[in-house]
Amino acid sequence: MSLDLAPDTPATTPEARAPLTPSALRTIVRELAEQPEQWIHHVRLSTEERWYRRLAADDDHEVWLISWLPGQSTGFHDHGGSRGAFTVALGELEELSLGGTEQGLLIRRVQSGTVRAFGPDYVHDVRNTASGPAVTLHAYSPPLSSMAHYDLRAGGLVRTSEEGPDQW
Ligand SMILES: [Fe+2]
Repeated sequence: MSLDLAPDTPATTPEARAPLTPSALRTIVRELAEQPEQWIHHVRLSTEERWYRRLAADDDHEVWLISWLPGQSTGFHDHGGSRGAFTVALGELEELSLGGTEQGLLIRRVQSGTVRAFGPDYVHDVRNTASGPAVTLHAYSPPLSSMAHYDLRAGGLVRTSEEGPDQW
């Protein structure tokens, strides 16, 4: 079947909206953390794995609530090209990433109230190494479409698997 379109028919594909900046995402999670009445009643804890729930989603970003029991961690992962920000609303976490001129391992304590924001290529491992639970708020733009996992080996990060939205 052929479509007989006039040559001056405008394209119907909507223009992709520009993703929010890490700075804008930082503001979203910081302001949400200051309004616990918006999310604290949703929090659950799971001994099976990190518990998570999507709080909001629209065309250009989404917001997630995650709880972490002691010992729970993400492993090294990317965000499929999305920009992101997260804040620790309760408790504290540890964040591992590679950086510096030698791409060495950086370990950072992320205390309650701290906001971390990152660009589309960021890879990190977030873990609860404290003795009590933690609760975090995350924003991603565009909304997460995939997430690859990595192993940290002697030569650096090695991509091991990838998951999509049907797996979370
Ligand atoms: Fe992450």
